[in-house]
Amino acid sequence: MQRRYYIHTFGCQMNESDSQRMGEALLRAGWQATEAADGADLVLVNTCAIREKAEDKLFSALGRYRLLKAQRGTRIGVAGCVAQQKKEALLHRAPFVDFVLGPDHLDKVPQLAEQGGIETDFIDSHEYLFPQADPETSRGRATAFVTAMKGCDNVCSFCVVPYTRGREVSRPDGEIVREVAALVAAGVREVTLIGQNVNSYAGGCTFAELIRRVASVPGILRIRFTTSHPMDLSPELVRCFSQVPQLMPHFHLPVQHGADSVLARMRRKYTIADYQRRIASLPPEVALTSDIICGFLGETEDEHRQNLEFLRCTPYDNLFSFLYSPRPHTGAILKMAEWGEVPREVALRRLEEVQSLQRARTLQRHRQRIGDRVEVLVEDRGFGRSRENWAVQFAGDAEVGDLVEVLVEKASPAALRGMQARVIDRAAAPATQQKRRLAVVSG
Ligand code: SAH
Ligand code: SF4
Ligand code: F3S
Repeated sequence: MQRRYYIHTFGCQMNESDSQRMGEALLRAGWQATEAADGADLVLVNTCAIREKAEDKLFSALGRYRLLKAQRGTRIGVAGCVAQQKKEALLHRAPFVDFVLGPDHLDKVPQLAEQGGIETDFIDSHEYLFPQADPETSRGRATAFVTAMKGCDNVCSFCVVPYTRGREVSRPDGEIVREVAALVAAGVREVTLIGQNVNSYAGGCTFAELIRRVASVPGILRIRFTTSHPMDLSPELVRCFSQVPQLMPHFHLPVQHGADSVLARMRRKYTIADYQRRIASLPPEVALTSDIICGFLGETEDEHRQNLEFLRCTPYDNLFSFLYSPRPHTGAILKMAEWGEVPREVALRRLEEVQSLQRARTLQRHRQRIGDRVEVLVEDRGFGRSRENWAVQFAGDAEVGDLVEVLVEKASPAALRGMQARVIDRAAAPATQQKRRLAVVSG
């Protein structure tokens, strides 16, 4: 009988994509995917280290999988950013883990699953080869992530990512375009180019030029990208939003804070005035989203007030806001005593103020669309995304991959709801059932 694997994914799009690559490596080595950990011979946890809470999730998941191991001898592997950060220390804390691998070693999963061990050295930038996606595992889906670059060369003082993902390496543009073409041939209609700092791409052309090359792949319907650093926003990239019809009008451009003094402590390398100048050049239909950190070291009440003021006058479509979480190996941690920690209850109150401001605004923006028809790419029966990347639930019989028009009837901060009004364009290659389905579970 074929052995079965199960991958549990935490974290960002990079991790989701890495889980898919690891699943493909296991399929090639003769493993089979399973949708439930209970029936797995191998459980792989792909981890996130961005905040302490993310790390806690790993250990509570491992507690459950440890029981499986006792019951049926399931092998357990830990991949991703916590693996990269903790290396062998992870085995001291969780000795029942069989193997540990960092994000540079995705293709070694089958070998490690057999032999156990630790692979967390970074591969030299000039020797690094990006794993190639198997388009077959995306058959039956409307959307796919395509890796454009990996790593991060910035030094934001709060952030552990440069430590867990290493230096920036860009993937050759020809490779990216070939992968997109293969995905489109398998029925995928929308690609999201991903990287921790995707707009600093330098794999043979500029990022704006890469978007144009991807847009020239016959049959590609929609292009998105994430995530971008405000310092690398070029006028050429801004022009793409009006000149490349396949590029969707959504831009995630995390500001992190609305006070210059906090941005300086965060080492973000821009001021609010710089940021405002850059976003002012975007076409008005582009839905802008952002990340905000509340309660960063030394954040005063006045800085928090500046943050709220900035958020009030910036028309963000949506916002992801987080409580600051001190991370090992980061610049800020060395300054903890000097800058001072914000008491938890104060930080929580500030976070709530930021979130309620944005909740009200997102709801208002969504409500404005009631009665409108929005264009939705169907990702699941009755679910898809608008051009701006809003989640849309609808009643209708459209298939995965169809482009439909939905008449909006209701709105909540999280989604629009409505009725399928008409099919604009049927899926190019009808979504046949996935032959080699990958079990990739997030959360
Ligand atoms: N490369 C992206 C960010 C990736 S991490 C960028 O520069 O914008 C995703 C988000 O997690 C960040 O934008 C930040 O808001 C948040 N984050 C990162 N480190 C954090 C920390 N230590 N505590 C709280 N939030 C953090
Ligand atoms: Fe982290 Fe800053 Fe790099 Fe983003 S740009 S991944 S926040 S160090
Ligand atoms: Fe988390 Fe690593 Fe992504 S820390 S956010 S999984 S790059």
